[in-house]
Amino acid sequence: MTLADVVYNDSVKFILSGGKGGVGKTSCAGAMAVLSANRGFRTLVLSTDPAHSLSDSFNQDLSGGEVIAIEGFKNLWGMEISTEKGMQDFQQTLGETPMGPEAEMASSLMGDMTGMAPPGSDEAMAFGKILEFIEDTSYDRVIFDTAPTGHTLKLLELPDMLDTWLGKLLTMRQRLSSMMGGLRGMLGGDAPQEDNSWEMLQQTKDKIRTASAQLSDPDMTQFVVVMIPEAMAVFETQRLLTSLDKWKIPANHIVVNQLVPPNPTCHFCSKRYEMQQNNLKDIGELYSDMDLIEVPLFDGEIRGIEELTRLGKILTGELEE
Ligand SMILES: Nc1ncnc2c1ncn2[C@@H]1O[C@H](COP(=O)(O)OP(=O)(O)O)[C@@H](O)[C@H]1O
Ligand SMILES: [Mg+2]
Repeated sequence: MTLADVVYNDSVKFILSGGKGGVGKTSCAGAMAVLSANRGFRTLVLSTDPAHSLSDSFNQDLSGGEVIAIEGFKNLWGMEISTEKGMQDFQQTLGETPMGPEAEMASSLMGDMTGMAPPGSDEAMAFGKILEFIEDTSYDRVIFDTAPTGHTLKLLELPDMLDTWLGKLLTMRQRLSSMMGGLRGMLGGDAPQEDNSWEMLQQTKDKIRTASAQLSDPDMTQFVVVMIPEAMAVFETQRLLTSLDKWKIPANHIVVNQLVPPNPTCHFCSKRYEMQQNNLKDIGELYSDMDLIEVPLFDGEIRGIEELTRLGKILTGELEE
């Protein structure tokens, strides 16, 4: 299966691009998004990397945490997730549904009793967006430009982490609830006040289960690993692939980016070329079961639709380099 089979396949709903910082994740996400939109898919490209570069890639401001239409297209949208805006929205939601006394008690007790910290706000926000757009039917395809290895891994671990975390909360809620009921009976207090925060937590758990199922379905999801042919990147890629495997996220394609051309008259260039070709050979042997896509180093930065299209066509094999 080549990347063309992924990008042009209408059953594929989610494409994730990931790897070390600076290797070309955002460029590849943008490139696949442009091809996808050109093929007629309503496409959203979403950056969950706190070090955003989607705006730079598209030469258009996509910051601010709102979905923005990308110029020159009728069916392409972009968005850089803003942790700040996400927190504001979240607080607003909380303001509308105040926590009942039991919920408040439970959350303050939870830290002591479970010793578990809630996930970091960046990852929680990014994952929240994934949940949101997994349910959203306004797009045929969502392309995620993910955070570098460490961050992404944490994000992928969220479903199980939250599951345990919410599971403990819910058990505790049941205990507290009967305890409060007993107390109320003894003191002759009022009927318990309506509290739907627990229901919300249950719904979140269900959403996470759905998301996990969709993200592990190879007909719906592909994670494209981006790397450069350097030893350090090989180690990182290995770690990333191990974790993707653990979370059952389908990953069959590796982009080996920024390959320098041979240049015998330049000593420095020849050295770099040699180093890269040696690593490329190792990468080929290490990942013989995966589809390797070689991408040359362009003579300039990859910015704007034209350059992204060129990169995209190299990724799909439509353009030979
Ligand atoms: N094949 C390439 N040739 C030339 N420049 C590239 C190539 N791939 C990426 N770049 C440039 O390298 C920088 C980092 O790429 P980017 O896609 O933002 O990486 P990441 O998202 O992994 O941090 C950008 O300035 C981009 O234009
Ligand atoms: Mg980036």
